[in-house]
Amino acid sequence: MTLLILGGTGTLGRQIVRKALEDGFQVRCIVRNKGAALFLQEWGAELVYGDLTIPETLPLSFQGVTAIIDASTTRPEDDAKMVEVDWYGKLMLIELAKRLNIKRFIFFSIVNSEQYPFITLMQQKANIEKVLINSGVPYTIFQCAGFYQALINQYAIPILEGKTVWKTSESISMSYIDTQDVAKFCIKSLSLKETENKSFFLGGVKAWTSEDIINLCETLSGQKAQIQLIPIALLKLLRQVTGFFEWTSKISERLAFVEILQDSRKFVNSIEINNELFKIQPKNLLSLEAYLREYFERMLVTLENLDVDSQNKQKDLII
Ligand SMILES: NC(=O)c1ccc[n+]([C@@H]2O[C@H](COP(=O)([O-])OP(=O)(O)OC[C@H]3O[C@@H](n4cnc5c(N)ncnc54)[C@H](OP(=O)(O)O)[C@@H]3O)[C@@H](O)[C@H]2O)c1
Repeated sequence: MTLLILGGTGTLGRQIVRKALEDGFQVRCIVRNKGAALFLQEWGAELVYGDLTIPETLPLSFQGVTAIIDASTTRPEDDAKMVEVDWYGKLMLIELAKRLNIKRFIFFSIVNSEQYPFITLMQQKANIEKVLINSGVPYTIFQCAGFYQALINQYAIPILEGKTVWKTSESISMSYIDTQDVAKFCIKSLSLKETENKSFFLGGVKAWTSEDIINLCETLSGQKAQIQLIPIALLKLLRQVTGFFEWTSKISERLAFVEILQDSRKFVNSIEINNELFKIQPKNLLSLEAYLREYFERMLVTLENLDVDSQNKQKDLII
């Protein structure tokens, strides 16, 4: 079975590529920059150039493909607008999948996206879910909680570097999951007929507040966090202000996510994964504690080695 993977260079996409190759699938990745994607080729994937904002680059890569796994999304630093990638780009993919009789389309949405129509990305996710469901293309949708990997930039690195950790003054619990675990569910779904035309929530079994995560990072790193609190009301105001200007609209869209923080209802509601179906037990999923412990252990060893190296260099200079 040949899989066509979009977003293979991304945080989640690379885990999916690796797992798919490990499980013996033929993997073809649509990439924008072959140089930056060489690691995927070294793992055994085939690379084809394609860009969701340039429709004519897509059809050729569909030849001989059985299933599409779409793990792409707009990079915050990109020039492309969210609507070009996460709306028009996805519409084009689904249309091609329909015309070319693709046997499964796997899409990654965000949990409870339908409840935030005022947030551009959430609205696009919810609408693409609807388009896919009504397209006639056999699909599996994973509605994901936050990824552990995103917590590294948000909390772990600033704490290690003694920089400010920004958090909202309101304390809300959220669910998170490791992208390697998301990849396991994704690849497993291809061999389970029962996952066809279904949507699944993917999140960890525990809900975390920012304080919980900061406390954990402090314990594991032995460093004290420099916390700066921002009221959600201020972020909302900033969003409205930045929303007026074309060039700042992306900042506005990202800030809009903060509004989700005000509503913890659903992030923790449907945490029970369909274990019966996937046969992946919660105890076999990586916990956030284990993920962060491994990260800090690795980083602290690296920092220690750098320190020893620089001390040795200083000694050499003195001698
Ligand atoms: N991050 C989270 O916490 C989270 C939570 C829930 C759901 N999700 C969803 O999970 C999926 C993966 O997210 P992620 O965080 O792994 O994403 P990511 O790390 O930001 O990676 C985005 C990927 O999309 C590719 N891409 C961007 N623009 C493209 C274009 N115009 N044409 C083709 N490819 C393009 C990027 O390629 P380049 O390398 O060329 O830039 C990259 O491979 C997304 O659908 C996201 O919405 C994420």
